[in-house]
Amino acid sequence: MTDLNVWLAAYRDERSVEGWLDPKAFDFVLAMDAALGSDMPGGVLEIGVHHGRFFIALNAMVSDGSTSVALDVFDAQHLNIDQSGRGSHSRFQENLKLFDRHGGENVRALEADSTTITPEEVLACAGGRRFKVISIDGGHTAEHTISDLQLSKAVLAQEGFIVVDDILNRHWLGVIDGVTQYLRTRPSLWPLAIGHNKLVMCRMSAWARHRDSFANLCDIRKSSRLCGYEILVV
Ligand SMILES: C[S@@+](CC[C@H](N)C(=O)[O-])C[C@H]1O[C@@H](n2cnc3c(N)ncnc32)[C@H](O)[C@@H]1O
Repeated sequence: MTDLNVWLAAYRDERSVEGWLDPKAFDFVLAMDAALGSDMPGGVLEIGVHHGRFFIALNAMVSDGSTSVALDVFDAQHLNIDQSGRGSHSRFQENLKLFDRHGGENVRALEADSTTITPEEVLACAGGRRFKVISIDGGHTAEHTISDLQLSKAVLAQEGFIVVDDILNRHWLGVIDGVTQYLRTRPSLWPLAIGHNKLVMCRMSAWARHRDSFANLCDIRKSSRLCGYEILVV
């Protein structure tokens, strides 16, 4: 068992950090960490943080003090145009202090609309270093999803992962709509695995290696196809 395994096992049962998350999604955190190597440098980014439920799990993957960025409209809720969740800067900061593996010391909270912020501004927040894992869980319209995928691709480390939430949630059909429209543009970001209401993606140049890792690390039920791409089904 790795240190992250032990830490996540305790955090998985911590119910005080409110959020929408299938606890099995933590299995993806462990798989990404193992695939990247737990000493890989770099921070994480989440678009759409709410009170930090998934962000805190992702930030536990950071092993070298790199900056992680939590991007949310937070208290500027007039920018949350589809009422997906309701970020709160103060609740997030409290949760970081109480539950984050690093006490939130490496975390920068960025209050912004993800559809208008630039990749340069997000990178500047992290000292110029690209992110090893990015979670997309902000606005859930097709437009937000496409825009957040484009932003994420621009700031993702070469070997990194992007995780899209609510990929198969009937209440938030904009997500699958946005993802499939994006994939039909034949981007160099490919889908890798689906499960626990999340879609994991990576750069096409890292796909074969990550596919082999996920096949070994996750409980794969079958292989399927999405917009012509092979995808592992967990
Ligand atoms: C479903 S919640 C996120 C849940 C969170 N990932 C968790 O683990 O519990 C969606 C969040 O996206 C934020 N949001 C909505 N529209 C946004 C936008 N355009 N840019 C940035 N954040 C946005 C909301 O304020 C809310 O906190």
